[in-house]
Amino acid sequence: MKNDDISRRDLEHIWHPCTQMKDHEFLPMTPVKKGDGVYLEDFEGHRFIDAISSWWVNLFGHANPQISAAVAEQARTLEHVILAGFTHEPIVRLSERLVALTPKELTRCFYADNGSSAVEVALKMAYHYYKNIGKERPLFVSLENSYHGETIGALSVGDVALYKETYGPLLLRCLQTPVPLDQSESAALEAAAAFEELLQERANEIAALIVEPLIQGAGSMHMYHPRYLKEARRLCNEYDILLIADEVMTGFGRTGTMFACEQAEISPDFMTLSKGLTGGYLPLSVTMTTNKIYQAFYCDYTLYKAFLHSHSYTGNALACAAANATLDIFEQHDVIEANKKLQAVMARGLEKFKELNNVAAVRQTGMVGAVELEGYAPEQRIGLKVFEYAFERGVLLRPLGAIVYFMPPYIIKEEELEYVLQTAYDAIASL
Ligand SMILES: Cc1ncc(COP(=O)(O)O)c(C=O)c1O
Repeated sequence: MKNDDISRRDLEHIWHPCTQMKDHEFLPMTPVKKGDGVYLEDFEGHRFIDAISSWWVNLFGHANPQISAAVAEQARTLEHVILAGFTHEPIVRLSERLVALTPKELTRCFYADNGSSAVEVALKMAYHYYKNIGKERPLFVSLENSYHGETIGALSVGDVALYKETYGPLLLRCLQTPVPLDQSESAALEAAAAFEELLQERANEIAALIVEPLIQGAGSMHMYHPRYLKEARRLCNEYDILLIADEVMTGFGRTGTMFACEQAEISPDFMTLSKGLTGGYLPLSVTMTTNKIYQAFYCDYTLYKAFLHSHSYTGNALACAAANATLDIFEQHDVIEANKKLQAVMARGLEKFKELNNVAAVRQTGMVGAVELEGYAPEQRIGLKVFEYAFERGVLLRPLGAIVYFMPPYIIKEEELEYVLQTAYDAIASL
């Protein structure tokens, strides 16, 4: 079978995500035959490094033997069972482990099957929590430039025009507060002061503040100082609103610590996790929360007090097995420590980009690096040019507009990461 054959059949029937399908009149669709560690391979044997971890999900490489074996074993035993009134061992074990790993107040796990749904759950739970304690809090606050997913509720709390603007009339009401302008502590304090001003006026209408801790992923890999999270936690306590830490992207080591919240030493009221949770194998997400929230729903049967939210595949056993195998790898190898070497390689590589005159800024938090290009109009689709250049040379990058970023699986070798960075450098230098 050839690439062209699969691509042609694909384009007959499949509508791809986040894609102007007409682009595929000139841009080839790439059929992937197999994965092998950091590499993906097409049907004609071309191999390329997955430098974006397939939309930020893959932690320990494609076709990882340990995770594959765990999923295969689980498939022979129990693939799935309804999670209302029934449970299974992999989900119990996974929940115990997540509670042990995450900030101390988080003791309850509510499962869904993608990051957007985890955010929907957190929003509904926060609103419903206040209702159950006799308060009406119809508003949410999020940071300017944030992204929390693309279902209607998650989209409502986002602030990236590209995804949101078209659907404006359909969305929930939501307020935005400034995100720190850069990674300095002073910018964090300024943004926190602006949040406090908003709270002084409207705190009693607001259920929760939702943030992407330390890195706004789809919002141009914008990064900020942990001090903002510390201040946000303090202000949420002071003004009695809940704090949702959306760690769908930042969780499981991406920021250099297991969870970004650790760097600010805070415990949020909700933490949403997905993407790396299963090592990039299967769709699974979890919304973790506190005993305080849980207790507000816990009572003798009363209409509308229980949290009635469900998805058919909630807590899928295969996905939980993949998640447990992923946590095994974290336990068996000191991944967070080992990643420090890769982070240093990335830091060295990024430094070089500063000499290019079409580079406006370079930033890094943990295992995420970003290079911001300047001087190009959106119609020039500069990101696409970088993609094409790198792809021809065996590197999969998927710039966000004029932001070229790196988010490789943690098993990437130092020389492979150097090659990724050098290829991106050459691509940018050639523009
Ligand atoms: C911070 C954040 N929240 C939520 C989501 C949505 O997750 P999903 O694409 O699984 O719906 C994403 C996806 O990129 C994300 O980065």
